[in-house]
Amino acid sequence: MIDETYMVLKRAREFPKDSWTLKRALDDGAYDNLKKAVTEISQADLIELVKNAGLRGKGGAGFPTGMKWSFVPKDVFPKYVVINHDEGEPGTFKDREIAERDPHQMIEGIAIAAYAVGANKAFIYCRGEFALGSRRMDRAIKEAYEKGFLGKGIFGSKFDLDIVLHRGAGAYICGEESALLDSLEGFRGQPRLKPPFPAIKGLYGQPTVVNNTETVSTLPHIVANGVDWFKGFGTEKSPGTKVFSVSGHVERPGNYEVAYGTTLDQLLDLAGGMKDGKTLKAIIPGGASAPLLTHADYALDFDSLKEAGTMLGSGAVVYMDETTCMVRNALVTTEFFAHESCGKCTPCREGTSWAVKVLRRVESGEGRQEDMDLLLDIANGMDGRSFCPLGDAASWALRSNVKLFREEFEAHVREGRCTFDGEHKELVGARSGIDTGISQQGDEGLGGEDRLS
Ligand SMILES: Cc1cc2nc3c(=O)[nH]c(=O)nc-3n(C[C@H](O)[C@H](O)[C@H](O)COP(=O)(O)O)c2cc1C
Ligand code: SF4
Repeated sequence: MIDETYMVLKRAREFPKDSWTLKRALDDGAYDNLKKAVTEISQADLIELVKNAGLRGKGGAGFPTGMKWSFVPKDVFPKYVVINHDEGEPGTFKDREIAERDPHQMIEGIAIAAYAVGANKAFIYCRGEFALGSRRMDRAIKEAYEKGFLGKGIFGSKFDLDIVLHRGAGAYICGEESALLDSLEGFRGQPRLKPPFPAIKGLYGQPTVVNNTETVSTLPHIVANGVDWFKGFGTEKSPGTKVFSVSGHVERPGNYEVAYGTTLDQLLDLAGGMKDGKTLKAIIPGGASAPLLTHADYALDFDSLKEAGTMLGSGAVVYMDETTCMVRNALVTTEFFAHESCGKCTPCREGTSWAVKVLRRVESGEGRQEDMDLLLDIANGMDGRSFCPLGDAASWALRSNVKLFREEFEAHVREGRCTFDGEHKELVGARSGIDTGISQQGDEGLGGEDRLS
């Protein structure tokens, strides 16, 4: 079995009892790399460093971070850095753990990004439900101000930075960067037309870098260790490590940090294999938006999964066993997209809700033989015709379920019932008692552990 490769989760795993506290973070070298960046490295060199390291965004699209930074105009002020901590993709729970377990690493990364692009104000757009994480980030920001790591003249340099923590209200579409910016400005969160991209015209119409939590948390490690070290992990086009959120029918669901290029089989081994020794049936490799795979010998990097007809996305890997009804899987996934569709464009607003109607009748045994083609037709009507990628993603998930498991859909229609009813019918994550290894956001999340810190 392979070992995990810790970078972003290093402090959290080495010091599980207090990794989020200022004392532990400082003892472990936190903010040393911010100091190094603002006192020893020019802004242009820092952008080059991150470009040469080949760091790719970890929010879903995998866009090269240094290249995104280089699009920001040098002579337009003010400019902003906005951290996407919305994490709404079903199956993804890595940013939540990063903020809960290591908020100082995140703040250090935000400050490095802001310094690189010349921003004096950064916002963290935090998913509203993240109670414990937002409390820890809030405390960590205050502590960073007290120590002079934020505010005016950081480490005696001319660099000033303020960070504002903003909690959203829980809409998946507000994870899409332009909808996020609308929401942050106080409007209803709906995607903007692109171009212009946020790097040119973003928050309040000013140049804005939107980066994911895990992306910025990687920056202190690149500043500390350099390009060659970073490229020593992963593959040529996907260097470094990635935190994968593993869930579904596995023995040990949770976050695992591995080098890009690790296979889905190896990741499954780390998670203890399939639960109760059952057989693997399907994998969602990159969050609910990603088309399904039916076996695990694919490498987890951007190019390999693209070649396999799917995507790495945010790194949410869901393993499903033989008891999973794929019609129900398609239904639940499409219900999610229908619920989260912002309604701005017709293909997505109408397509997702019509697909749900058809899937409901197939799943309940009242479907028609022509429904499978109808579902594919609805998917085609959304793919490439929606205003933003949410509509495309809804079509990919639907299409791959119907195409890969058509026989199962047809059996539902033929037999007039769900063919999984009665025995072991299970849905991903439906088992009670699944321990994701991170806090629950109920009483426990608001309770003792944080009060002790
Ligand atoms: C519907 C939708 C939801 C998204 N949700 C998130 C999210 O929760 N977190 C995130 O970082 N990126 C999300 N993204 C991707 C962002 O638009 C953007 O690409 C990302 O925040 C850029 O950061 P990165 O370059 O560091 O990955 C989403 C995209 C779409 C289309
Ligand atoms: S694709 Fe869906 S979420 Fe995106 S703009 Fe259209 S309706 Fe809104």
